[in-house]
Amino acid sequence: MTVQPMFVVAKSLENDRAEIAAALAAHIPSSERTLLVELVADAFVDAYASGCRDGSHEDLVRWIDRMCDAHVDSPAIVNFFGNACSLLDGYLAPRGYAGVYRAPLRALERPIRKVLAKPRQSSRPVDERLGEVDASINAMLVRLDAADPLTAEHSRAVAAWCSRLARRLMLSEEEITFVSRCGMIHDVGKVTTPTEILHAPRKLTDAEWVAMRSHTTAGERIVLDDPNLAIFARPVRHHHERLDGKGYPDGLFAESLELHTRIVTVADCFNAMIGRRPYRPPMSPTRALEQLDANIGTQFDKDIVAAMHEVVSKG
Ligand SMILES: [Fe+2]
Ligand SMILES: [Fe+2]
Repeated sequence: MTVQPMFVVAKSLENDRAEIAAALAAHIPSSERTLLVELVADAFVDAYASGCRDGSHEDLVRWIDRMCDAHVDSPAIVNFFGNACSLLDGYLAPRGYAGVYRAPLRALERPIRKVLAKPRQSSRPVDERLGEVDASINAMLVRLDAADPLTAEHSRAVAAWCSRLARRLMLSEEEITFVSRCGMIHDVGKVTTPTEILHAPRKLTDAEWVAMRSHTTAGERIVLDDPNLAIFARPVRHHHERLDGKGYPDGLFAESLELHTRIVTVADCFNAMIGRRPYRPPMSPTRALEQLDANIGTQFDKDIVAAMHEVVSKG
């Protein structure tokens, strides 16, 4: 097989990731289809697409192994991975993808079955598992605090804004917790950013901007390395994207940015504006809301900005 067809598959999976992930997750009975299952489905499509680009799915298999370890108490996750390849195959086949495009899926079934059959640690209470997610997030915050206390303080504040926004937007308790954790961890990649760039009391040079922006991709790598945090990979990578495609690192457009990420973006920018920065004094909340309003539709989601107005005025 040439590399070319797999690039075609990767591109179309990336374009329609959300729709495909939802179609795959829909096969899990609704009583078991938690937010975690939906996030894992999303991450699976992403990871499979990048394997297509790399010409190898070994990383995907290793990732599934780590996810099964981290979520040993969620049978729906094992159930999902057990059928993911055939479901994706079933999705692609009627859409004109010939056998050559789908062959890697069949080749993947065996190694995935092997990984799923591995004996895992005995069942632990859900509270304990969630505790591990928080412990991992705390460990990241400790690293961030050591590298840059201002960013750690900002992260805690963004988590609080995320939680208030999610509540105003009437999300479920599970999603409120998830979005709040996204806020807490969104800037973790800044542990890799040189302090003199983070604290520069002036405009950054082009080269420094490149380094600053790379906290998104560095953060994604950090969270993907920890199975407890892998589900936060997309909001961490994409919290500086814009609805009009002019953000970074991927220039994604509105339709590719999920609600969780859009919430983090609004909370992040609002908190950055009202917070102290080395190069400018804090802005008043009223002025910061005006800035959000001025960028509705290009940078920010209209409903989330409306929620931020309510959060600021009513708490
Ligand atoms: Fe950031
Ligand atoms: Fe931030």
